Amino acid sequence: MAIFPPEQRIWWKQPLHGAEILWIGICLIWAVVMFGTMIVWHAIGEQNLSNEAYRISPDDFFERTEAMVEEFTVREEGDTGIPVVRPPPGSDVYLLARLWEWYPVLELQKDQEYRLHLSSLDWQHGFSLQPTNINIQVHPGYEMVITLRPNQAGEFGVVCNEFCGIGHHTMVGRIHVVE
Ligand code: CUA
Repeated sequence: MAIFPPEQRIWWKQPLHGAEILWIGICLIWAVVMFGTMIVWHAIGEQNLSNEAYRISPDDFFERTEAMVEEFTVREEGDTGIPVVRPPPGSDVYLLARLWEWYPVLELQKDQEYRLHLSSLDWQHGFSLQPTNINIQVHPGYEMVITLRPNQAGEFGVVCNEFCGIGHHTMVGRIHVVE
């Protein structure tokens, strides 16, 4: 029992039991495999995140988002009334996070490339694309820019995965990918 001191004061010089050596070996090999996986996954994982980030004030980001919404809104989302925006392929697309919504709803075309800008107007939020499980932190004052090409049509949810207050669990957005 650990509440008594070891019998030998120099306890770390005693020989290891075979089982302990075995487990240390397994852990070491597994750690090396996991380390290698990080590098290999970067090449074959097809989910590499952008390392593009720029400073931008929340006001400027809001203005750019509104400009896009005014120009390319095609309808309102039935259950929420949030504008559905269908920006042209190749264009800059803005998705803003704020207490407690993702704005606007985006409609993108499959196999077309877009530059997606993500930022927050207030607190830290987390962009989590479901069900594909792509996650990016969203901060006020910075925009993350992701070059994306949707490879699957359908309806995707965007949930907030950084706790952002009392309405956090209601902060759900939507991205439609159409053929
Ligand atoms: Cu936004 Cu949690």
